[in-house]
Amino acid sequence: MEPKFTSKMAEKDKVERNRKRSEPVEDKRIISNSRLEDDESDRSLRPKTMADYIGQEKIKKNLAVYITAAKNRNEALDHVLLYGPPGLGKTTLAHVIANELGAQIKVTSGPAIEKGADLAAILTNLEDGDILFIDEIHRLNRNIEEVLYPAMEDFTLDLVNGTGAMARSIRIPLKKFTLIGATTRSGNLSSPLRDRFGVILRLEPYSVKDITKIVTRSSGILGIDIADKASEEIAKRSRGTPRVANRLLRRVRDFAEYEGQDEISLQLADKSLEYMDIDSLGLDVTDRTVVETIIDKFDGGPVGLDTLAAATGEESSTIEDVVEPFLIQLGFINRTTRGRVCTERAYRHLGRSFKGSYEGRDLFSAAEEEKKNED
Ligand SMILES: Nc1ncnc2c1ncn2[C@@H]1O[C@H](COP(=O)(O)OP(=O)(O)OP(=O)(O)O)[C@@H](O)[C@H]1O
Ligand SMILES: [Mg+2]
Repeated sequence: MEPKFTSKMAEKDKVERNRKRSEPVEDKRIISNSRLEDDESDRSLRPKTMADYIGQEKIKKNLAVYITAAKNRNEALDHVLLYGPPGLGKTTLAHVIANELGAQIKVTSGPAIEKGADLAAILTNLEDGDILFIDEIHRLNRNIEEVLYPAMEDFTLDLVNGTGAMARSIRIPLKKFTLIGATTRSGNLSSPLRDRFGVILRLEPYSVKDITKIVTRSSGILGIDIADKASEEIAKRSRGTPRVANRLLRRVRDFAEYEGQDEISLQLADKSLEYMDIDSLGLDVTDRTVVETIIDKFDGGPVGLDTLAAATGEESSTIEDVVEPFLIQLGFINRTTRGRVCTERAYRHLGRSFKGSYEGRDLFSAAEEEKKNED
């Protein structure tokens, strides 16, 4: 007899899938927003004060108010949750906050805390006003998470000593610290944990204008002159992500050195980015292959994820987690119930005339066309 697929098995399967999904899919492309090995040299580029932290104006304004209030009242800042895609400056901001408060910061991460006792040791070592930064907080084990609840809420640690009938619980008071959590997947955060943050801030992709400023600032720190137009050109292809901008700048600087130029001109920036095969919107060959495959092999879609993966030779998880998000952000791909479709905008970017399905129609241009026909 076939083994019965019980609901318990289904549940286990789901948990396993979720666990796997919470581990990031590796993406080593030049335009990847994940931290790569050679980004380590980026430390000097990291802003240390609010004044140096470019963009994210709404967040900065909010934080300035909370920071001033906490300082005036001589109290610890409320717990802060920072969320948003990789490379937008969550870790940087956590350090900036600590710096502005004149507080000490202890840094750890969800996967690094393996046992409740590890977290207990960290918490009992904190002083009044200290900041505990937990990166990738969504990857914290649920049992360990429970240690955090009373610590965040009442600044106490509830420990159980012994087992069975001999078990006794002990309460240990903690100092008034501030927890700053960072996550790229706020959806994976349990609601009891999320509810215990007083301040929840979502980082948004940066405008070209802000990234341009970041590129110019970084060039200064790296000690190379750059033309404004060149900063802007690098910014345009950086996908709204400071980490990508700094990486592209470092590559372009290498080109400048190779060519014996002591300034990055627009022409040099253009030439090197072209050489790296990064197009005007920051798409690389993998991004373009996915879009072209939907257009050429599936008439613009809809096409299912697994079919698309097979046709492009990429893993489904790679397409879903690292390629698609930016294409969706650009409005090049729509996820529909019938599968992925390419939009008119994607056709236009590739210089093709639109032949896809109605789900890909650009409503604005469709309306404009209709109006033109009426006139
Ligand atoms: N607002 C900003 N102004 C200037 N530079 C920035 C800003 N935000 C980020 N950067 C630069 O981008 C780099 C990446 O930022 P950071 O490591 O803080 O991102 P993150 O959101 O923590 O990413 P991850 O999710 O991968 O941990 C930093 O080293 C810094 O140089
Ligand atoms: Mg980080």
